[in-house]
Amino acid sequence: MEAVIAAPEELARLAAGAIQKLLGSRPDAVLGLATGSSPLPIYDELVRLHVEEGLSFARAKAFTLDEYVGLPSEHPQRYLNVIEREVVERLDFAPGAVRGPDGLAADLAAACAAYDDAISEAGGVDLQILGIGTDGHVGFNEPGSSLASRTRIKTLTEQTRADNARFFAGDINAVPQHCLTQGLATIMQARHIVLIATGRAKADAIHQLVEGPVSAMWPATILQHHPHVTVLIDNAAASRLQLADYFRSTYAAKPAWQGL
Ligand code: GLP
Repeated sequence: MEAVIAAPEELARLAAGAIQKLLGSRPDAVLGLATGSSPLPIYDELVRLHVEEGLSFARAKAFTLDEYVGLPSEHPQRYLNVIEREVVERLDFAPGAVRGPDGLAADLAAACAAYDDAISEAGGVDLQILGIGTDGHVGFNEPGSSLASRTRIKTLTEQTRADNARFFAGDINAVPQHCLTQGLATIMQARHIVLIATGRAKADAIHQLVEGPVSAMWPATILQHHPHVTVLIDNAAASRLQLADYFRSTYAAKPAWQGL
C-alpha cells in the first residue's frame, strides 16, 4: 500500500495521470468510478486532459461502485445520474459503456449477481477509483460487511445517511435506507485501486485503513491484502497517521520511472 500525502490538486493530477497512462497502453481499459465529493477533482482533471490533450475514453468501459435502492430514474442523486453528469457527459465514452448496479430492478439479488458477471465478462476492472466514508466504508460496504462480500443489497448506517444528507437538502429522511454495492471481494479484484481522501473528517478512517488491524469494523482495511493500492491523501486526512513522516520521505524519494 502506497500512501501519498500532497495538496488536493496534486492528488487529482496523480490519479488522472495514472488513468492517462493506463489508457495510453490500453485504450480499451476498464475503469471503476466512484461517487461522493472526493473523486470530483479527479474527474475535472480527466476532463481537462480530454479537452486539452485529447485523452480519449472512446474505447474504454466503466463500472460504478454502488447505487441507492428505489430512487426514481430521473432523481438527481441517483448515482448513475451523478456519474452521467460529472463524468460521462463531459468525456467521450461510447453509449452504454458506463454501467452501474440497477437500484430499480424488480429482482435486486439477480441484478447484483448480473452486475458481478458483467464486470468479469468485461475482463475485470483495471483501475478502480475509490473514496472512503468517515466510518471506513468503501462503496457502501458498511462496518460489519463480509470481507469476502460480492455485489449485494446493504442497509446504510445512520452515520452514512447523515453524512450524505447534504446531497438531499440536509434531510436525512430523504436518504434511502438501502443501497446496492460492489462487495469488498468484488472491489479487491480490481488490478489497481486508487483511493482518494481529503479533510480532517477522514483522518480516523485513513489511520485505520493504512495502520489499523484488518477488520470488518473498518471495511476499507481489507485493502491491506491487495497488492497494488495507492492512497492519495492531503495533510488533514493524513493527520492521524503514525507513519506520515515516512510516507512523506518515501514519496519525496520515489524513483521517477515508477509511477503510481
Ligand atoms: C458515499 C459513497 C462512497 C464514498 C463516500 C464518501 O457513501 N457510496 O463511495 O466514498 O460517500 O463520500 P465523500 O467523498 O463525499 O466524502
